[in-house]
Amino acid sequence: MAETPVYTDADPTLAELLHTHPQLTVDPTCGLMLEGVALNAIADSVGTPCWVLGAGTLRARMQRMHTAMSNAGLDVSIHYAVKANDHLAILTLIGQEGFGADIVSGGELARALKAGIPADHIVFSGVGKTDAELEQAISHGIGQINVESAEELEAISAIASKLGKQATITLRVNPDVDAKTHAKITTGLAANKFGIPFQDAAALYAHAFTLPGVRPVGFATHIGSQILTTAPYRAAYARVAELVHTVRAAGNAVSVVDCGGGLGICYRNETEGQPEALAGAIKAELGGLGVKLAIEPGRWPIGPAGVLLSSVILRKAQGMDVPFLVLDTAMNELLRPSMYDAWHGILPLAPQAFSQPVSLTHVVGPVCESGDTFARDRLLPPLARNARIALLDTGAYGAVMSSTYNSRPLAAEVLVEDGQWQVIRQRQSVEELWQDETVPSHLAKAT
Ligand code: LLP
Repeated sequence: MAETPVYTDADPTLAELLHTHPQLTVDPTCGLMLEGVALNAIADSVGTPCWVLGAGTLRARMQRMHTAMSNAGLDVSIHYAVKANDHLAILTLIGQEGFGADIVSGGELARALKAGIPADHIVFSGVGKTDAELEQAISHGIGQINVESAEELEAISAIASKLGKQATITLRVNPDVDAKTHAKITTGLAANKFGIPFQDAAALYAHAFTLPGVRPVGFATHIGSQILTTAPYRAAYARVAELVHTVRAAGNAVSVVDCGGGLGICYRNETEGQPEALAGAIKAELGGLGVKLAIEPGRWPIGPAGVLLSSVILRKAQGMDVPFLVLDTAMNELLRPSMYDAWHGILPLAPQAFSQPVSLTHVVGPVCESGDTFARDRLLPPLARNARIALLDTGAYGAVMSSTYNSRPLAAEVLVEDGQWQVIRQRQSVEELWQDETVPSHLAKAT
């Protein structure tokens, strides 16, 4: 077995990246492989940019989450956060593994139902749910709505009453806990827009029992994303437990606590969040409450399962201290580096590149914005025009955050399973970019 590399503050080397990403291997002839499938073969056939997702990695990580919870003796439902990757094939696979869905829009609800996830295994989160979305959810008999404000509670009560239904609800509490993650993905601070202020939650819960059309069952919390330690979870869950005791003492029943998502993964050299440690935090703070528990992971199961294949358009070196590697892939495909300064590993596809000397390189896309940058001062082997690379850990918050900025069609998507691969989304055509656009007749040139 390979020895565990000792990490320093420096970027991981190519070998270290391979070590932290066991789903990726290098074949001396075929080059970089995902779950035993040569990524060059996929790129030869489908072209680049192309998202590739390994079903084996996804399944194994979902099973590890299940096992971690059951080994801790916890009765935990797992609702996959659809926003991380909402492809129908992925949702179908996730449903097969026994996961439900955590949704934040009518579109995500429709997708989850279309993929065969039962309505009663779907939880509706989100700070702004429209009347139409609430009607859609309540008429489908959705499992639970996580209420984010007093105003929303009234709206749900009115809509459910009008439909002659009872909506099962929890209150999403903002515990005012710092998740110690990027400011743009932290959600559990009092200053954030999410959840009901902690100090208001007990009274609002009591009020919910007086309203028609709603069945209050408990509380939910979600403090942020890419969380790497258990301390913020424990702090948040301790506050929720305190709330459960308070409302029970006031005579109101609590049977559900939804613990949210947020477990982080290893992009660079982080020790990834451990489902077993999360299970430990849940057990320690909430295990004795006698409630049905749930989690909402998005990034953890699917992030490491995906790579984004890309080709070098050119290496711009003349007059540069550090050359720019301009890819055919841009911020409109993978937004995370420009949006959160996120670090994504980069590996070459060609086998010989793994033994060549590395030098400093800036890796950018062709979009006309300086923020269209994937990496600065990255140590990479020589990569000439048409050489291919893989951007790692793009299974979560990758394709879902794409746009067609600069009239760049949406990239193709491929699923790898059992040594086979299949296109699960055709590359968008240029004509499809404008198929829903209309040129008013007074502008259209007479022919
Ligand atoms: N539950 C709720 C209510 C959420 O808002 C989220 C994520 C999750 C669960 C799933 O969190 P996860 O397990 O994936 O961390 N686009 C950003 C991440 C935004 C996360 C938003 N909410 C990124 O690329 O880092």
